[in-house]
Amino acid sequence: MSTHINAPEGAIADRVLLPGDPLRAKFIAENFLEDAKCYNEVRGMYGFTGTYKGKKVSVQGTGMGQPSLSIYVTELFKFYNVQKAIRVGTCGSISEDLKLREVLLANGACTDSSLQSQRFGLLHFAPVPSFNLLYTAYNRAKEIGMKAKVAPCVSSDFFYDINENWKLWKKYGAAGIEMESAELYTLAAQYGREALSILTASDSILDGTATTAEERQTTFKEMMMLALDTIVAE
Ligand code: HPA
Repeated sequence: MSTHINAPEGAIADRVLLPGDPLRAKFIAENFLEDAKCYNEVRGMYGFTGTYKGKKVSVQGTGMGQPSLSIYVTELFKFYNVQKAIRVGTCGSISEDLKLREVLLANGACTDSSLQSQRFGLLHFAPVPSFNLLYTAYNRAKEIGMKAKVAPCVSSDFFYDINENWKLWKKYGAAGIEMESAELYTLAAQYGREALSILTASDSILDGTATTAEERQTTFKEMMMLALDTIVAE
């Protein structure tokens, strides 16, 4: 048991998928895992454990934004010995080369978050994913004919942007904006674990277009298969 996760020892797998939305965690458990059991309901931040292709997998909601994700992922790494964590989320596209519904495998995460400056002060850390998970996900996407772009994302503390900082990061190659990956990658580095963010472009910051609810559902399913196949590999 930890402060925000009410699970007994052994109830959480060492491989965990991380959607922001706890209802997504429930949906994933009910539709993609076998024999899924809920291990956490504290604050409605559901966590489930089941099996996928015979391997034990958990799925834990993280909430929105880096401070919220930081709480859940720290507890998963520190108290539940989680080894592999894959965020499954959405992003706003900031690249002409990342179309709506396409998948971004974030090979780095730029951030405006003070979590980084509180940790590193004037030094700058490079939040990057596990090469192993990235390599596995990229190859799996190729195998199943799914277009997956590999580029950095921006993890902003703002959803309703007040400053358009993303425009600078776009110039340096960032392709999507979301709110969590930099902290996930930094915690994985801190605890010596593996992490990756798989993001589908749900809307375009460039032209204001957005996916429909039905499109999001289809894309979401494809992304889930990719994330699950990646997390159970090896
Ligand atoms: N900003 C932050 N997170 C997001 C966005 C966005 O525009 N779109 C989807 N997730």
